Amino acid sequence: MRAGFIQTNPVFGNVEHNVDRASALIASMDADLIVLPELFSTGYQFISEDEVRGLAEEIPGGFTTQRLAGLSSAHKVYIVAGIAERAGDKFYNSAVLTGPEGFIGLYRKTHLFFEEKLWFTPGDTGFKVWETPIGNIGIMVCFDWFFPESARTLALRGADVIAHPSNLVLPYCPDGMVTRCLENRVFAITANRTGIEQRGGRRPFKFIGMSEIVSPKGEVLFRASDRGEEAGVVEIDPVLARNKQLNSFNHLFDDRRPDLYKP
Ligand code: ACM
Repeated sequence: MRAGFIQTNPVFGNVEHNVDRASALIASMDADLIVLPELFSTGYQFISEDEVRGLAEEIPGGFTTQRLAGLSSAHKVYIVAGIAERAGDKFYNSAVLTGPEGFIGLYRKTHLFFEEKLWFTPGDTGFKVWETPIGNIGIMVCFDWFFPESARTLALRGADVIAHPSNLVLPYCPDGMVTRCLENRVFAITANRTGIEQRGGRRPFKFIGMSEIVSPKGEVLFRASDRGEEAGVVEIDPVLARNKQLNSFNHLFDDRRPDLYKP
């Protein structure tokens, strides 16, 4: 599998521009799977519910998901991308999976970060894994990484690759994902954004870039810079993530002791 990401710097509220920019980058890549950042089409820092209502889109019928499905079909590529979702009177910080066959699935961010809690409802989909011809793809979004149960659940459910759309502001995740991959023996593709947003007199967010692809042995196969747009692609073998045997005595899943893990 040629696994890739794009690291972008969206313009807040200019969905058409942001989707066009991502489309141009996707068209320039030779990849089977491309992960885009969290909220890549809208930008991150919402400052009112009206703004969320105006920019959030239905999934899969909305503009952004339809454009992604078209790109997937045109370039024969699987895409995972973060989108602000409107579902009835609720809003979710969501991610979609599209493939050559069109829209495949939806994940709604479980662990909301900071002021996201003002605008979005915590996700109700749970952690999902899709079996595809290129491998088993699981999704979590940004701050979900801080809760090790997210990646563990995806691994237990058979993910070979964790697609991780992000808008990281804290410095810990690029190194933290090395541990998440090692302790679950999975690949992960973290697609982050760059730039600064400061809207409505609120606290500024500086996004740290450093999108990366990490192997089940915790090797950083590719790490982007901390600024600017960038695309990365690495050839990986997803089947390597299915071997959970650490040595002749230890198996990552069989050795777990869930009866001793209760609070
Ligand atoms: C984050 O979850 N966007 C930090």
